[in-house]
Amino acid sequence: MAMAASVTHASGREIHKEHEELERVLARLDAALDRLVYYAEVFADLHTVTQVRRLGGILTSWFPDHCRREEELLLEPVARVSNELDTFSRSMRAEHIELLALLSSFRSALEEYDSGESSPAAVGNLKECGKELVASIRAHVALEERELSGFL
Ligand SMILES: [Fe+2]
Ligand SMILES: [Fe+2]
Repeated sequence: MAMAASVTHASGREIHKEHEELERVLARLDAALDRLVYYAEVFADLHTVTQVRRLGGILTSWFPDHCRREEELLLEPVARVSNELDTFSRSMRAEHIELLALLSSFRSALEEYDSGESSPAAVGNLKECGKELVASIRAHVALEERELSGFL
């Protein structure tokens, strides 16, 4: 039990560091989405669109791996500690599936934007999907950080 707890603690620190890095990416994506504007002005601010695409790419290549590592290194060992933590771990796994679906919608919105020559609808959809993704991941990470603070 003591050994299991120490393994969890070392892994927890790694996950906590990933949460901090994730928050930095989300803050930059959130700020870029705030600057994302409609049709006519988009061409004046290609830098913002490029940033949204780049930060979206970072999340796409990195967030699924974070979820997988977290499930293996943190949620699985923590679930063995108590029934309450088992329930919490299950609910975090379920949220991972929802968050990955939101990430996939965001990627589709980016593709739609790229193929739709930045129509107002495509820009609006990209902004909406991006904002929902950022808010949802932030809420999820905040919940993990709060409920699993003893292991992080
Ligand atoms: Fe998570
Ligand atoms: Fe996490």
